[in-house]
Amino acid sequence: MEHALRILIVDDDIVDRRICRRALGRLDPPPIFVEAETGAQALDELARYHVDCVLLDFRLPDRDGLELLAQLNERGVEQRVPVVMLTGADDVSVAVEAMRCGASNYVVKDMDGRYQELMPTIVQHALRDRELQLARWRDEQALARYRSDLSELAQRLMDTEKTTTRQLAQVLHDQLGQTLAAIRLGFDAVCANCASLSSESARRHATRVSALIDEAVREVRQVLVTLRPPLLDGRGLLDALDNELRMQPLARDDVELQFEAAPGITGIRWPADVEYAAFMIAREAIGNALRHANATLVRVTIDGDERSLHVRVMDDGSGIPADVSCPGHLGIVGMRERALAIGARFALETTAGHGTAVLLDWIAP
Ligand SMILES: Nc1ncnc2c1ncn2[C@@H]1O[C@H](COP(=O)(O)OP(=O)(O)OP(=O)(O)O)[C@@H](O)[C@H]1O
Ligand SMILES: [Mg+2]
Repeated sequence: MEHALRILIVDDDIVDRRICRRALGRLDPPPIFVEAETGAQALDELARYHVDCVLLDFRLPDRDGLELLAQLNERGVEQRVPVVMLTGADDVSVAVEAMRCGASNYVVKDMDGRYQELMPTIVQHALRDRELQLARWRDEQALARYRSDLSELAQRLMDTEKTTTRQLAQVLHDQLGQTLAAIRLGFDAVCANCASLSSESARRHATRVSALIDEAVREVRQVLVTLRPPLLDGRGLLDALDNELRMQPLARDDVELQFEAAPGITGIRWPADVEYAAFMIAREAIGNALRHANATLVRVTIDGDERSLHVRVMDDGSGIPADVSCPGHLGIVGMRERALAIGARFALETTAGHGTAVLLDWIAP
């Protein structure tokens, strides 16, 4: 220990205070002692000086030690001082109560004075525990700050994503879509006027170009569906998810897709960012179930009320391998980030051979 500790002894018995001073005088370097006979004096001293540790007698003239302990523990975590309770041999049950109320440790003043030997170690332990407690509290604070920053960042990213995809969808629809439609019309007109396209090869080319135009129109529509979930803005999450399942191209015909909305939630609209995040998470989970799980059943359920939303996507497939590591595969990471951004709980439950469940629970703040 580099600096001398400042120890406050709160005891109305002068002999007991002297015993404490002598017992703790063995610490290196010897501590500086401050003394108080009553709870009020102790609070006064604590307000005036920095104190590293308090030795607190259970019986004080103006209040009992537990009362003072409770008052000391009302202070903010950073201002809290470790308290070692001093109890008589007949007050041992008080020691237990004191620990429950936040004392760092206790010393039982036994008749033969053995407790004096233990006091330096007990005080050192109390200080070490206090340091650990403070470090843990600071870590928790830092983690909470980090989580809140991250959630804000994810929220901003989602907002940007929404604006950008909206703009992109608009451009694709209004410009490329229109251009393709015009090409389609123009090309059909040219073909009609040149019915006499005499050569076989010219006719083959015309058929090929026509097919390419159809394909380009289909592709633009598909990109639009991906960018702007159909029905979500206008009709809400239930219709959009139901539609999403119906639109799934199935590679096998033994796969069953089920959608189940709890009775009574039809017509509920959740905040737009919550609906958007829930939709995108469900879309990714459905896609994963169909692509990776080799499932025969994919089931989406949705439940909640105006202030809560619970979405589940479950499959009966292979489960996610425990050692799966897919650098560059961002589906699961993205689901977590979207949930974080709306302050929802996200969980992934998976058992080898018994399928996977993706769970999203949002409760209005
Ligand atoms: N429902 C599931 N059943 C079985 N395995 C799954 C399931 N969901 C995910 N996985 C496994 O976890 C991996 C990671 O999934 P993730 O969604 O993060 O990436 P991805 O689907 O491979 O790629 P993408 O970035 O396009 O989403 C998958 O490659 C797959 O091996
Ligand atoms: Mg994926």
